[in-house]
Amino acid sequence: MSSSLHGPKVLLCVNGGIAAYKAIEVLRLLQTAGCEVRVASTEDGLRFVGAATWEGLTHRDVASSLYGWAESAIPHIMLSEWADVVLVCPATANTMAKMAVGIADDLVSTTLLAVPRTTPVVVAPAMNVNMWQAVPTQANLKTLRERGISIVMPVEGRLACDAVGEGKLASVDQIARAVLDAADSRTSSKSMASLKVVVTAGPTHEAIDPVRYIANASSGKMGYAIAAEAARRGACVTLVSGPTALDSPEGVERVDVVSAAQMHEATLRAFDDADVAICAAAVADYTPAHPADHKLKKAHEHLDVIELVETADILAELGRRKSRDGRTRVVVGFAAETDDLVANAQAKLVRKGCDLVAANDVTREDSGFGSATNRVTLVSESGIRELPTLTKEEVAAYLLDEAERLLRRS
Ligand code: CTP
Repeated sequence: MSSSLHGPKVLLCVNGGIAAYKAIEVLRLLQTAGCEVRVASTEDGLRFVGAATWEGLTHRDVASSLYGWAESAIPHIMLSEWADVVLVCPATANTMAKMAVGIADDLVSTTLLAVPRTTPVVVAPAMNVNMWQAVPTQANLKTLRERGISIVMPVEGRLACDAVGEGKLASVDQIARAVLDAADSRTSSKSMASLKVVVTAGPTHEAIDPVRYIANASSGKMGYAIAAEAARRGACVTLVSGPTALDSPEGVERVDVVSAAQMHEATLRAFDDADVAICAAAVADYTPAHPADHKLKKAHEHLDVIELVETADILAELGRRKSRDGRTRVVVGFAAETDDLVANAQAKLVRKGCDLVAANDVTREDSGFGSATNRVTLVSESGIRELPTLTKEEVAAYLLDEAERLLRRS
């Protein structure tokens, strides 16, 4: 498996059949191998293994209906786009038939239809021998194979109905291996190979004197997740980082800076031969005009009033420089807002000359500074896309997908 900050994201679609209990073991194997797994189940599937089991194992709500899912109002789109690999286990004859002809009449079948063509799908069928050998099932199997879906073939054995024959779910090891292989083939397609990406991250510290500074609560997690994901996609990444407590992501060149002025200089230098720049840093907007070169003494020096001057806006500067030398560069910014999220983000898009703005409402608990999750709305000239609450790694993947799309289009 490729090494990355987070493992492959696997959507496990469980169908109604006795073999559903074996999907629990497959899920555990995938988690042990570093995968992040979410479960979608048909209603029948939940009769065999209940939601409590899946939720206990994944710490996420199991999705079983197109309506009323806590994590997203459009679960089939969110889940199908989230997954790096989709596993249908066990796959019933009914679900295979729906997949073959494109029927979307429940959460699982609708999600399967919405899976992007580039996402690998693995199907592990399990059913009665006659159902397996039935002409329609075999025809559907052929269709799915021709479509590039990987089938982990069922084996011969004693089936739940006491018949002996083909139809028994393949071994859990074999199924997990097929999923990991599919994930590997996907991640080895380095979609950003030969691209140079610059990312700013973290806060800046603006010195008042040698021991005092003005800072903010940025943890740097969002920018680091973007840098890690870009490196995983094969990009050559320069991470210009303010002071953070985070380890450098693998395969990333990190340039440590302290102040807004240093970040400005380092970012512009790296931007010259870059294809994509993503400004995730919480750069101080103001800095002390006259930082003292000695520790100020409160008894006889002024500490109650600190004269500030505005810092240079790095993102806006990149926006101005992005078409220099006839090159095409994509510039992405963040917009931390407390109100009028979309309108403010649209204004920032234009004002700073960005191609994309990821706007987040920093008053939400699941979003913004320090939080492990983020809820962003992507705003570009082509429209607005509201993402559900996601981990920062997931947001990074969406953001880079969009940046890659913008780069291809320009
Ligand atoms: N940014 C930057 N350099 C600065 C200030 C901000 O590169 N000196 C970038 C941030 O990294 C972020 C974007 O600008 O990508 C927006 O930052 P934000 O704080 O939301 O906006 P401001 O420009 O500060 O505008 P306002 O305070 O009016 O919301």
